[in-house]
Amino acid sequence: MRIDILTIFPPFFDSPLREGIIHRARERGLLDLRVHDLRAWATDRHRVTDDAPYGGGAGMVMKPEPLSAALEQLRTEHPGARTVLLSPQGRVWNQGLVREYGALPGLILVCGRYEGVDERVIATFIDEEVSIGDYVLTGGETAALVVVETVAREVPGVVGQPESVRQDSFFDGLLDHPHYTRPAEFRGRSVPEALLSGDHAAIARWRRREALRQTLRKRPDLLEKAALTPEDRALLERIKAGDADET
Ligand SMILES: C[S@@+](CC[C@H](N)C(=O)[O-])C[C@H]1O[C@@H](n2cnc3c(N)ncnc32)[C@H](O)[C@@H]1O
Repeated sequence: MRIDILTIFPPFFDSPLREGIIHRARERGLLDLRVHDLRAWATDRHRVTDDAPYGGGAGMVMKPEPLSAALEQLRTEHPGARTVLLSPQGRVWNQGLVREYGALPGLILVCGRYEGVDERVIATFIDEEVSIGDYVLTGGETAALVVVETVAREVPGVVGQPESVRQDSFFDGLLDHPHYTRPAEFRGRSVPEALLSGDHAAIARWRRREALRQTLRKRPDLLEKAALTPEDRALLERIKAGDADET
């Protein structure tokens, strides 16, 4: 998958895109990540990309000319890509959107700064605005990283063990089950017996039950939309009744 990122701060991405899973995916050719300096499309001597807002007031606005030139070029180079502006006014990012984006041939991510982007650029080039939550960041770079990292996990081969993604929170609408590692006893607390049993079916049952319990405890709202089987519903009733212990 190819992802182009348009920013006035390319060095922001240096470390995050050169570490861990993302780095390995790039090395193996699974992810083609290209960070572009918007200033390269500014034509004046000082490579200016912002200007004062019409109507006055605080802050600056990202000028339309460099952005338009950059997006015209990137969209021509990468015709199947979805052009996305990171914006607090966008669709709120969640695992459903991650899955939708993971199936796309590519993305062009536009990182805003200052008060935002001239509205005519949005009208002309932006396919969709995406927000990572109802709060305001200083720039779109942090949000672009969230999009890259989450979408990368959807690309086949990027996460070494695909079953670990299937177990993660939100994959099937539930939170993940609890995890334990050695030692079996730590500060008076033991690892649940089912996990020590070596019985794969018992372990799978324990994990499903505890995923349901975690979700009920921490995010009961998710249960309304989760795809639950009749067995899940029966288990939930037992958990609510205090009739399903955690061992
Ligand atoms: C200071 S913000 C501008 C906010 C804008 N004046 C508004 O209130 O809608 C600067 C840039 O940060 C990015 N940004 C801020 N909050 C964001 C969020 N929640 N999700 C995605 N991008 C965000 C956008 O690219 C935005 O153009």
